[in-house]
Amino acid sequence: MSDVVLSVQDLTVDYGLHDPVRAVRQVSFDLARGEVLGIAGESGCGKSTLAYAVTRLLRPPARLTGGSITFTRPGEDPVDVLSLEGDALRAFRWRRIAMVFQSAMNSLNPVMTVRKQLADVFATHEPDLGRKAVEARCEELLDLVGIDRARLSAYPHELSGGMRQRVTIAMALALRPDVIVMDEPTTALDVVVQRDILDEIDRLRELFGFAVVFITHDLSLLLEISDRLAVMYAGRFVETGTSRQILDNPQHPYTQGLLRSFPSLRGDREALRGIPGTPPDLARLTGGCPFAPRCPHAFEPCTHEPELLDGVACHLFSSKAVAA
Ligand SMILES: Nc1ncnc2c1ncn2[C@@H]1O[C@H](COP(=O)(O)OP(=O)(O)OP(=O)(O)O)[C@@H](O)[C@H]1O
Ligand SMILES: [Mg+2]
Repeated sequence: MSDVVLSVQDLTVDYGLHDPVRAVRQVSFDLARGEVLGIAGESGCGKSTLAYAVTRLLRPPARLTGGSITFTRPGEDPVDVLSLEGDALRAFRWRRIAMVFQSAMNSLNPVMTVRKQLADVFATHEPDLGRKAVEARCEELLDLVGIDRARLSAYPHELSGGMRQRVTIAMALALRPDVIVMDEPTTALDVVVQRDILDEIDRLRELFGFAVVFITHDLSLLLEISDRLAVMYAGRFVETGTSRQILDNPQHPYTQGLLRSFPSLRGDREALRGIPGTPPDLARLTGGCPFAPRCPHAFEPCTHEPELLDGVACHLFSSKAVAA
């Protein structure tokens, strides 16, 4: 891909030193400028840990134990994201990569008005802006996310859940980042509000051209909004491809199970079948395919964990290579 804005290679994150929980294992992806990459997987598979690692927001006991992250803008030197520190890191986090979290209530300060929270972003990152200019930028941001300017004086608890999430999206947009990482941004919202916010994100993306890493356990939702998809299981990407490919021709048995697990947003009501069993304990991975205990197709090669080859990490597709 020629126009890559973010390149993640072999990223690995552990929690703790002894019996570490291997939350993210050798995850690699290239994010193209302006595209939406969806990351799907069950609770506990490492999605948020990956989001925090990419935005450099990991805190102990999380430890980044391997890999690299490179950010690139046309005409500028590539940035080694993992080597950033201090002011450079803070500036990078708002100007180049912003993050929207699942719970807007957690990312907004309950005792500060919307105006103050938005204005603080400018005070920190664009200190030369005058008061009037800041007010104008705050108003413009609320316009962008479809909230009445009068709400600048509101406190978070005075807003609905959907509006609060719009405010966090406005904050993320404040410095026009190239990439926005969204971790379950609509999960806490009801379906109608969820749909409105997804449309909003799509509209803003067309307007500003930022790329999105969109994380959710809801694969059917991702299929609608993502250009490309990665399915995550036990800390690794087990299938990657375009949304079309994955919808039409899912390869990994886990992806197939996930697709059967969710009612389609398109309306065809399939029974919720789910996937039997539970995800593995990430502190006790055996070296085999972590999905094998739940897999209807498990066979002898699955005692070795398969590599991600041609977009799928499954011996059903690589068994010849392994048997040799
Ligand atoms: N502070 C921590 N200490 C130890 N283990 C942790 C910590 N935070 C997360 N983990 C473990 O890391 C793994 C990945 O967690 P993570 O929150 O990234 O998953 P997730 O895919 O975002 O799940 P969810 O869908 O529930 O948000 C889990 O097995 C979890 O138990
Ligand atoms: Mg999470």
